[in-house]
Amino acid sequence: MHSLLIIGCGSIGERHLRCFQKSGRAIVTACDTNPALLAAMQERYGAAGYATLDEALAAGTYDAAVICTPAHLHLPMAQTLLKKGLHLLIEKPLALDLKLVPEVREAITAAGRFVGIAYVYHFMPWIAESHDFLRSGALGKILHASLSAGQHFPTFRPAYREIYYARHEHGGGAIQDALTHVANAFEWMIGPCTQLFADAAHQLLEGVTVEDTVNVSARHGDILVNYSLNQFQAANETTFLIHGQLGSLKIEVHARRWGHLLAGETEWTWHETAPLERDDLFIAQANAFLDGLEGLANALSTFEEAVQTLKFNLAALRSVHTGLPIVIE
Ligand SMILES: NC(=O)c1ccc[n+]([C@@H]2O[C@H](COP(=O)([O-])OP(=O)(O)OC[C@H]3O[C@@H](n4cnc5c(N)ncnc54)[C@H](O)[C@@H]3O)[C@@H](O)[C@H]2O)c1
Repeated sequence: MHSLLIIGCGSIGERHLRCFQKSGRAIVTACDTNPALLAAMQERYGAAGYATLDEALAAGTYDAAVICTPAHLHLPMAQTLLKKGLHLLIEKPLALDLKLVPEVREAITAAGRFVGIAYVYHFMPWIAESHDFLRSGALGKILHASLSAGQHFPTFRPAYREIYYARHEHGGGAIQDALTHVANAFEWMIGPCTQLFADAAHQLLEGVTVEDTVNVSARHGDILVNYSLNQFQAANETTFLIHGQLGSLKIEVHARRWGHLLAGETEWTWHETAPLERDDLFIAQANAFLDGLEGLANALSTFEEAVQTLKFNLAALRSVHTGLPIVIE
């Protein structure tokens, strides 16, 4: 059994806590500055709890930690935890700027610990299978891709005005909160984004001023990619389209399926996944993290992949701010 500290037991932290318990491979301890949440973790899951990271580290020993606080705290906490020799699962986005990245990179090497970033799309079967299909070369050279995504965010996160989402400097807005997931998924499937032009605006969500709508025209190397995402539409739908020399691939996240249509064919061949509980993806991610710290192969986003997606987020914000295309170095 691994001993695991969950830092931040809000929406996603509670899910991680529950899903690591459900993996049957870890004993979890909670840490949150909100006493009511700590009491709830004790009551619902029997998890011991501490109000601060310092208290939690003084009181117990852990193999690993899951950092589920707002994003401006991810890398400072990672530094503290790596010094203590813990393996880390860090929530997305990795950070809000690149300042601490070199130091954390060095700390990971010095500590010799496993670090993964919780870009959970890697554990959606329709994304993972598409990733493998594309890597097999079945579509030949990839040339063009697009993403159309949206949902009514207030339905899924009624507290959006009160949480990190309301402020860019805490990781809020559509780019850092939602687009980052699909950008990371695209980068995982077709390679890193190398330049982009972004346009974004606050179109509808009440009580916030951050952007809820974003368009990006990007290149991932030679591949031309178009992203379109909003957080107010009624339909909760995300569709990826990827076109290569030999055919096309389509992923319908909302329908839990992916398909391919090769040159000369007229119908899509679909691969569907049976209905899943939302926790299932997070249990798969928890197991992948535990595999990783045990030295086994896993599909988690690496630290360097998450740094690349952080560069995508920053380039998109800068492009919106300046009105200029941005090259990602
Ligand atoms: N992968 C996903 O699907 C997914 C979904 C939601 C959120 N997230 C990410 O997870 C992170 C947290 O999001 P959330 O929705 O759970 O936010 P949240 O506001 O619901 O929870 C954050 C928690 O962190 C606690 N906290 C803040 N500072 C702390 C500190 N110094 N020490 C201990 N606890 C502290 C807060 O009290 C709060 O309970 C964000 O980076 C977000 O982008 C990821």
